[in-house]
Amino acid sequence: MKKQLFSMALVATTFMACGPSAPQLGKASLDDVIAAMTLEEKAHLVVGTGMEGFENGDSAVVGETRSLVPGAAGTTYPIPRLGIPAIVLADGPAGLRINPTREGDTATYYCTHFPIGTLLASTWDQELVENVGKAIGNEVLEYGADVLLAPALNIQRHPLCGRNFEYYSEDPLVSGKIAAAYVRGVQSNGVGTSIKHFAVNNQETNRMANDAQVSPRALREIYLKGFEITVKESEPWTVMSSYNYVNGVYASENPELQTTLLRDEWGFKGMVMTDWFGGKDAVEQMKAGNDMLQPGYDKQYQDIVAGVKDGKLEEAVLDRNVKRILELILQTPRFKGYHFSNKPDLQAHAAVTRQSAAEGMVLLKNDNGALPLPTDVKSVALFGCTSYNFIAGGTGSGNVNRAYTVSLLDGLKNAGYKTDDKLKADYEAHIAAEEERLKPEGGKFSAFMPVVLPDEMTFDAARLKELAAQTDVALITIGRGSGEFLDRESANFYLSKENLQLVQDVCRVFHATGKKVVVVLNVGGAIETVSWKAWPDAILCAWQGGQEGGNSVVDVLSGKASPSGKLTMTFPVKFEDHASSTNFPINLKSDIDIVNANKGEKKHSVKDVDYTRYEEDIFVGYRYFDSFGKQVSYPFGYGLSYTTFEYANPSIEAGNGTYTVAVDVKNTGKMAGKEVVQLYVAAPNSAQMDKPEKELKAFAKTKTLEPGETATVTLTVNAADLASYDEASSSWVVDAGTYKFLVGASSRDIKAALDADVAASAKKTNDILKLQESIVTLKR
Ligand code: BGC
Repeated sequence: MKKQLFSMALVATTFMACGPSAPQLGKASLDDVIAAMTLEEKAHLVVGTGMEGFENGDSAVVGETRSLVPGAAGTTYPIPRLGIPAIVLADGPAGLRINPTREGDTATYYCTHFPIGTLLASTWDQELVENVGKAIGNEVLEYGADVLLAPALNIQRHPLCGRNFEYYSEDPLVSGKIAAAYVRGVQSNGVGTSIKHFAVNNQETNRMANDAQVSPRALREIYLKGFEITVKESEPWTVMSSYNYVNGVYASENPELQTTLLRDEWGFKGMVMTDWFGGKDAVEQMKAGNDMLQPGYDKQYQDIVAGVKDGKLEEAVLDRNVKRILELILQTPRFKGYHFSNKPDLQAHAAVTRQSAAEGMVLLKNDNGALPLPTDVKSVALFGCTSYNFIAGGTGSGNVNRAYTVSLLDGLKNAGYKTDDKLKADYEAHIAAEEERLKPEGGKFSAFMPVVLPDEMTFDAARLKELAAQTDVALITIGRGSGEFLDRESANFYLSKENLQLVQDVCRVFHATGKKVVVVLNVGGAIETVSWKAWPDAILCAWQGGQEGGNSVVDVLSGKASPSGKLTMTFPVKFEDHASSTNFPINLKSDIDIVNANKGEKKHSVKDVDYTRYEEDIFVGYRYFDSFGKQVSYPFGYGLSYTTFEYANPSIEAGNGTYTVAVDVKNTGKMAGKEVVQLYVAAPNSAQMDKPEKELKAFAKTKTLEPGETATVTLTVNAADLASYDEASSSWVVDAGTYKFLVGASSRDIKAALDADVAASAKKTNDILKLQESIVTLKR
């Protein structure tokens, strides 16, 4: 009833004020358009149009999302009398997420499921990521959306974060450079992006009300750095604030984050929107510079109107936010009247995802040239449930409604390999039974929740002997899923008893008959490898490669593509080894209301749920493992190739505030391949600040090098990028001294060390985002 009344009011205003005198967006100046808006219209514009299933209150135009692009995440509020259209916001990182079918419509609207963020980053190839971005952005444009809610670039602080698969790295430079490339690609289509989740959204447990407590130094150097790079290098149209608190204040209500840092220091010119239903106080969000609240609900609208009326919110602040939204709308295809086709070239994009997925796979082990599979390998014994049911990506808003997923089984068949029909039938029956057993209970978010994977099957020796006799090689896939809302549990990191037994038994029996065994990891993040990695001949970390995943894996296994990905995160011996493990919600099954956790009072009782203390400070990932000399399974930056590379003639040149390192990389093996070259810098010891042993400062990937071919790789670092953040003076400080420039094939495979003298410098920043007390406990 209330809703009806409201809609009638809207019709009435529209009717009354319509006409030639009303200034039109795009024709009149923005100031004139804003001056013509009623307070109610302004309040509506800064609040979205509501979300299907959440029609709480009288959100005036719930249904707009459905009528414009069904399945999109949100829309902005249209004001036709002023020529302001609704624009469409849609997820997400691995491709556009919209409904694939529509009621009463026989056409389909499938989108391409591209590789997950972690895989894209593992290519270390900014040009490739930009090209993938171009293809994703083309689908955004051709399906009639305006802003893609991606990329997601939170730091992979701990391996068990449920959304790490969407994110890029434990390192901020990799995160920032890859995100910037992605943004440039998507936006080259004339559509927008929303870099997310700003900031410090590093766990899913209680994500809507968790207080991330982080030192200003770790914020600046680790958690904000990637965003800073992306903003400065790619000018994203929008930023999405995160759900969590940062040092006691909701990110979306924090003016220091959304205005002082983002706009004043970094020069961001676009618009900030909340994450869906994020934060609590609409008036505070407006003041902070969080311009738009998505997907929007009535209370926010009411609070903003009341806020202006009772003086809590200056109308000028609302106008400022409205202006930023109008500036965004002006740029969009919908405003410009673009006639989208609903027919992007899905075939061309399938080729893009297939090729890019192959480029990000990481060869972890390859003894005695087990891979690529020799040409006399014709038949494959295919083990592991996910070989048959390949995981394309993670669940939640990062999922894509794709038309198909190529499994490893299909990929092998497509490439002409034979597989065992009886084994296939056994797996299919087992998977069907397991799916029945593990069927989700239902509920509002069940379709969004991480899927529980089937338990693995084991086989007796006789069956394995039979299979070994009939086939040329064994492939075992180890799969792991994860997604939004939940963090991974320890069992998701470690292998189950059955899984270990499967790998061990297959290796034993196949090796006894002289056959090789290859393990393929179909995962979204690090898993345990130390206990079993000695057994198989080769291990390929294939990640979750999107809808063409099986084809991409077989392109690598067969040698059609040479693996050139490297890890953008450490594979630890145990996840407990990460310093952040002391403060991470490990196996904390919480009964938190995932929609309303942010509606009540701020809580401070349950460690790692209500609040998380980032005591490890800057010692995240390899910065910790390398500084503290900890053993790892596979280090950051690691990855093998089918060929080998030699590094020669390293040199360094200083000048004009930059350091340029050059090195010759020669392909010394027998196959073509590409090499990722990493430049780390080790700063001299500092009396004031604990420095990590080394930090990544630049990276590059060679083109394909033929056997015997050499490329000179040049890597440049600005002197200012050598700074650490000094909290005492709120400045980026470069200490004077001799720095070591380390050229590496991984963080633990340094090929050359070059010294350079660096002069002292300091750059003052705003003194913001402070903690009440120091929480840093880890010292070198
Ligand atoms: C996610 C965002 C996403 C939004 C819209 C939220 O649950 O955290 O990443 O863009 O939903 O679907």
